[in-house]
Amino acid sequence: MADPVDKNENEAPPNKLSRRDLIKGVIAGGVAVSSASYLFRASTLLGQSARGTGERLLTINVNGQLRRADVMRQETLAWTLRHKLGLTGTKLGCDRAECGSCTVLIDDVPHYACSVLTHIVRDRKVLTIEGLASPEGKLHPVQQGVLDEQGFQCAFCMPGFIMAAVAFLKTNPNPSRSELAHGLSGNLCRCQDYDKILTAMMRGAENMRTVSHV
Ligand code: FES
Ligand code: FES
Repeated sequence: MADPVDKNENEAPPNKLSRRDLIKGVIAGGVAVSSASYLFRASTLLGQSARGTGERLLTINVNGQLRRADVMRQETLAWTLRHKLGLTGTKLGCDRAECGSCTVLIDDVPHYACSVLTHIVRDRKVLTIEGLASPEGKLHPVQQGVLDEQGFQCAFCMPGFIMAAVAFLKTNPNPSRSELAHGLSGNLCRCQDYDKILTAMMRGAENMRTVSHV
């Protein structure tokens, strides 16, 4: 007798995405594997009630938009982005400034969002992976480089690498391979070959030099 689960799997979904479409969506927003952050997270913030912890309504500039959120005194930027603003492209791996998966730009400088209090980013500009593509959906050249080279495997670390590369290339747009490797040394990957990641980032650097709008 046929297994009903197998039968469902054989039915074509109504709006089937190609693998390339799916990967492009992940690169643009880092939306996949977001649940993995809960597996690695060791923060005492998890499950903590916001009530009675000094929440305050803040306005922060994220990806060019003014966003408002009730923020606890001890709340990290990574927590606010993911859980208050729905920007889950910023990943939480170690949650203690070691892996770089939570890297965002604050006034164009890369920071580990797990180690920055949200209160201190008022009056500053925060850029996350969701803010890199153009409003029309055109990928940032570094994101395009990742797509071109298929640079990651599970892609959990990918948003952090991309944000770190974007920041590095703003100050050094034509790096050697070893310079870029050094620039990305604050980011760790658990499952991909670093050489392949670097190749994707070098392609991103090349893409950046050929466009004028970033
Ligand atoms: S989550 Fe690892 S550095 Fe922030
Ligand atoms: S952690 Fe899987 S690709 Fe980096």
